[in-house]
Amino acid sequence: MNIDFLPDNAFIDPSGQNINEVASLIKKFIDLAVENSASADQRSPLSRMKKYTFGEFSVQGMSSEGIFLQLHEILKNSLNPLTPNYIGHMDSIPTLISCLGEFITTTLNNNMLSLEMSPLFSQMEVQVLRNIARMFGYDEKSGGVMVSGGSLANLQALAVARNHYFSVKEEGLIGLKEQPVILASEASHTSLHKAAMLLGLGTSSVIAVKTNQNSQMDTLDLEKKIHKMREKGKKPFAVVATAGTTVTGNIDPILSIAEITKKYGLWLHVDAAYGGALVFSDKHRKRLSGIEKADSITFNPQKWMYVAKTCAMVLFKNRDLLETDFRISAPYMNHTDFTNLGEICVQGTRHADILKLYLSLQHIGLKGYDQLINEGYLRVDEFVKQVKKRPYLELASEPDTNICCFRWRPKNLDAKQCDQWNLELQQCLLQKEGVFFSLPTYKGKRWLRAVLLNPFTPISTIRKIFKTIDDFFIHYQSYKS
Ligand SMILES: Cc1ncc(COP(=O)(O)O)c(C=O)c1O
Repeated sequence: MNIDFLPDNAFIDPSGQNINEVASLIKKFIDLAVENSASADQRSPLSRMKKYTFGEFSVQGMSSEGIFLQLHEILKNSLNPLTPNYIGHMDSIPTLISCLGEFITTTLNNNMLSLEMSPLFSQMEVQVLRNIARMFGYDEKSGGVMVSGGSLANLQALAVARNHYFSVKEEGLIGLKEQPVILASEASHTSLHKAAMLLGLGTSSVIAVKTNQNSQMDTLDLEKKIHKMREKGKKPFAVVATAGTTVTGNIDPILSIAEITKKYGLWLHVDAAYGGALVFSDKHRKRLSGIEKADSITFNPQKWMYVAKTCAMVLFKNRDLLETDFRISAPYMNHTDFTNLGEICVQGTRHADILKLYLSLQHIGLKGYDQLINEGYLRVDEFVKQVKKRPYLELASEPDTNICCFRWRPKNLDAKQCDQWNLELQQCLLQKEGVFFSLPTYKGKRWLRAVLLNPFTPISTIRKIFKTIDDFFIHYQSYKS
């Protein structure tokens, strides 16, 4: 073998010839990552938004020292969701064990495509997902597959729903007399539109159902829209309920929606990408009541389960539907009575995300997850209390999860000026407190959004935030007079 041009630690030599070079590089990199994570609260949550240029590829290969220096810059300039002051998005601090699991997974480089290519991980995925399905209240017929994110989970769930409802797995949509439509609340995630587009239904097939003042699906409007669509000659086949909407984190009334889907013979999918974690909470599991009636569920442990990205799954009440309404057999793969996961998953070659999830569940434990979820509610309760104390602030909704959206509503300002002041408030909180809120547009207005995921965010920080908001308000009063 002629590998003269390669660095001495380009690979981990399978016979251990370069173990020292490998170990020293790994130690250096791990030390850097740990140092970065362990000082995250010293740095701003946001990276400097500058334009980065990445040079030409090295012809001779760069020394590990050179790479290390580059990596240093990469870490320094990357977004910092690890700090307790990053509360703007559903990006959690990852469990340490999931980061380590990720490293082990990559060194093993198994492929979830088939049992032959990942004998242990394929079985682990089936069994762990079956156990999680049970936690959602499903029975032994249930199961699912992991995918790279909630968008793919929603896509796969709706693909199975469509194929099952219209029996179109082989023939496709041509010949269908009525346009298939999906009903989902106006607060549902945009990945449903992507799914509809990819499924050949078109984005207009996602019919928005109104939400109430708490951002939850209005079930009266759901029934009204089902009738309306039918009158228009369209064919509603699925309803998507959201458990943890993207902006306000609210949970649709799943039980009532399930009664409606049963009455009209529709598929019920629950997008619990965010809120699915509540099945791990003794106190808050009841918020997902009715989810066991869903035909399919999207769940992203990469969010509220603190598992390093990506980690997501789609679960089916009846796993056999993956065989009948989705499976594409790959004759070139070795066949046993175990269905190769690549045949029943929208992805083929796939990373073994299951290990980091399994390790996190083992390490944190059910009690630990229960506690993490309670910590989120403690913070959101304090947040809501502080908002409600101030007549010049308003809530977008009463939170159902650990997400709180609020805005400042100075009197005598038009909507545009109001949005501008909220943008300034967001900037002020970033500059004065170093705290990052996202600024979504919701129901035509801009809101400050706090996703209180990080258990290291002290309650005292929340109180300090509101002191700064008070100062901002006082400043506004003096500016006005
Ligand atoms: C409710 C909901 N569903 C689906 C998704 C899409 O998940 P992903 O970004 O992992 O594809 C998100 C993302 O935030 C979400 O909030």
